[in-house]
Amino acid sequence: SAGHRGLDQLDEPLVVGHRGASGYRPEHTLASYRLAIRQGADYVEPDLVPTKDGVLVARHENEIGTTTDVADHPEFADRRTTKVVDGVPLTGWFTEDFTLAELKTLRAIERLPQVRPDNTAYDGRFEVPTFDEVLDLVVEHHRRTGEWVGVAPETKHPSYFDSIGLSLEEPMLRSLRQHGLASKRSKVLLQSFEVGNLQELDRVTDLPLEQLVDSRGGPADRPGTTYASMLSRRGLRDIARYADWVGPQKDWVLPRDPATGATGRPSAVVRDAHAAGLRVLVFTVRAENQFLATNFRRGTDPNAYGRVGAEIRALLDAGVDGLFADHPDLAVTARDAW
Ligand code: G3P
Ligand code: CA
Repeated sequence: SAGHRGLDQLDEPLVVGHRGASGYRPEHTLASYRLAIRQGADYVEPDLVPTKDGVLVARHENEIGTTTDVADHPEFADRRTTKVVDGVPLTGWFTEDFTLAELKTLRAIERLPQVRPDNTAYDGRFEVPTFDEVLDLVVEHHRRTGEWVGVAPETKHPSYFDSIGLSLEEPMLRSLRQHGLASKRSKVLLQSFEVGNLQELDRVTDLPLEQLVDSRGGPADRPGTTYASMLSRRGLRDIARYADWVGPQKDWVLPRDPATGATGRPSAVVRDAHAAGLRVLVFTVRAENQFLATNFRRGTDPNAYGRVGAEIRALLDAGVDGLFADHPDLAVTARDAW
């Protein structure tokens, strides 16, 4: 059993910079992580996928057509292909078909240009970072300031990658070890949607683990198991056998009225998770669009803060122990005022 690794160190709810500060910079770039750290995030969150030569890079998906300029590279036109990943057919370009050297010739672009038009100003400027480069940033921040920012890596599609002979866990733990971040006392939280991956990690590391729970469906490696059932009292007790945290999509904590989208009273999930001995790190709080976030930054629209801040306060009132935030500045401000 996992015990309660790392659970004695929490003074206040954590703010995790989701994909860095992805509300303000193209996600999973060093610029995005740097900004999250500058904005006071307690942790930064790299999603991890492997290259053809087995190097972990920070991308939300192994398909990189929407987060890089690969489509503008004629030399990679013949790499465009269709694959089924976790039962979902996807057409595009995939990290596992590129060496790291090839990936490094690409540049990141904003994934959601309609939602975040300001971020497109950074299109073409930043590389795809390796996990090692993200950890270098964290170590460098400590060297400069004496403070540790935490890291919450997420293994993406681990059983899919296993099936094509690429491991996520081994290189992830190796990189953490090489950066001196693999001990129980490190500010590191390993997360995954897949149960088997976390159970395997539980066998090989003392680092705290988080079971992610999406809004619908179930874990890719557990056909027939629904996320809903995992949040029952019994399901939460099962999670507590191998993990320390549970990471529900926020609608599980604050259910929405399907007609109006308004949130009502909190569900029993936080209380039941705590009763099972789990902490709760909910995803994802964000300004609805760049306009709100920009106006909040400029201090011109208190309503912008009002809407994001109200959601954050409601989640904190519901008892969550932390939140993933696309705009770490909003979350830190709301958390500190709470
Ligand atoms: O890891 C928490 C949250 O990031 C999970 O969802 O899809 O944004 O990786 P996703
Ligand atoms: Ca994630």
